[in-house]
Amino acid sequence: MPKTALITGITGQDGSYLAEHLLAQGYEVHGIVRRVALEDPSHRLVRIAPFIDRIHLHSATLENYPSLCEAMRVVKPDEVYHLAAQSFVAESFDDSFSTLSTNINGTHFILSALKAYAPEARMYFAGTSEMFGKVVESPQRETTPFRPRSPYGISKLAGYELVRNYREAYGLFACSGILFNHESPRRGYEFVTRKVTSHAAKIKLGKADRLELGNLDALRDWGHAKDYVVAMHLMLLQDQPDDYVIATGKPHSVRDMVKLAFDRVGLDWEKYVVINPRFVRPAEVDVLKGDPSKAKAQLGWTATTTFEQLVHEMVDSDLAALSR
Ligand code: NAP
Ligand code: GDD
Repeated sequence: MPKTALITGITGQDGSYLAEHLLAQGYEVHGIVRRVALEDPSHRLVRIAPFIDRIHLHSATLENYPSLCEAMRVVKPDEVYHLAAQSFVAESFDDSFSTLSTNINGTHFILSALKAYAPEARMYFAGTSEMFGKVVESPQRETTPFRPRSPYGISKLAGYELVRNYREAYGLFACSGILFNHESPRRGYEFVTRKVTSHAAKIKLGKADRLELGNLDALRDWGHAKDYVVAMHLMLLQDQPDDYVIATGKPHSVRDMVKLAFDRVGLDWEKYVVINPRFVRPAEVDVLKGDPSKAKAQLGWTATTTFEQLVHEMVDSDLAALSR
């Protein structure tokens, strides 16, 4: 019998890579999608389109507890990957109420549905380096105190604590990954890497003439999403549930990222980038640098894609798509 996995957020960047990874491992893969996505598959299911015939989709939302219970009851998964969330930090300042409500309640609903309908299942929760916020030590590891700086970070920290509480109180096999930024050609266009690579490609092809950005000094520890979903899976194959930092350990500034992307298309970034205060956040996370040594020692996991390879892959992919 193949193992069965249920993925929330299967239509997102990580959900699509994870689904592919689990299919390759022989899993039966189920995903939760919103009704609006099912009604507009050519846009909203684009990341899972190449393998949509090999997965099973269930209509549910994070706001609707009965819909999550029903998915859990019908699928009876061996593994649950809870990736769905309002994941854009900037948006969480503009609409903190929705972000807190969806992300905190959604995680609580998933845990409660798991406890009721699939208590033997193993669960992964998508925690984040954004929980470290105003960092108190560098690099950040599993024991570093959390000081979140955004409603998004606060919502994820609440989810992380809920996961820990369900693990300790009810014995669920529930793990949190504390994942640092990870990107790919499937990244949403609002996140800085994809915004930059898509604009570098557009400007190169004469389809745009400038790129408006906010803070260029922030440092992020960027890896490749394809590498990071493997770590999610490995966490659920361990003997005991635990939490793990997943990172490269090598931070780069937004400015470095911009320069690398524009260099790839042979342009001088300083001629095209304009600072727009609209993209500066009310409270910024200045520096993130993860220490992945626990993941390396216990999961045998390390990031395999360099920062340069990642940015080049994204620029090349955007250039190819825009040229078609
Ligand atoms: P993403 O591309 O933004 O995908 C988010 C997914 O959540 C989408 O499938 C989206 O569905 C779904 N979703 C959002 N609100 C929902 C709702 N109310 N009900 C049901 N589904 C909903 O995010 P990602 O980059 O793949 O990240 C996956 C998870 O990891 C997120 O929880 C994120 O916060 C976390 N994380 C990401 C990173 C990173 O660097 N990428 C780092 C640390 C943690 P639609 O397609 O219908 O919108
Ligand atoms: N999005 C965006 N747009 N970010 C900008 C811009 C801009 O125009 N200009 C500068 N930045 C800076 C942001 O201020 C931030 O310091 C950095 O670029 C990265 O921003 P994002 O790509 O939006 O990612 P994030 O770090 O805020 O959040 C991502 O990583 C988290 C993990 O640390 C998201 O994927 C979160 O879901 C994830 O948890």
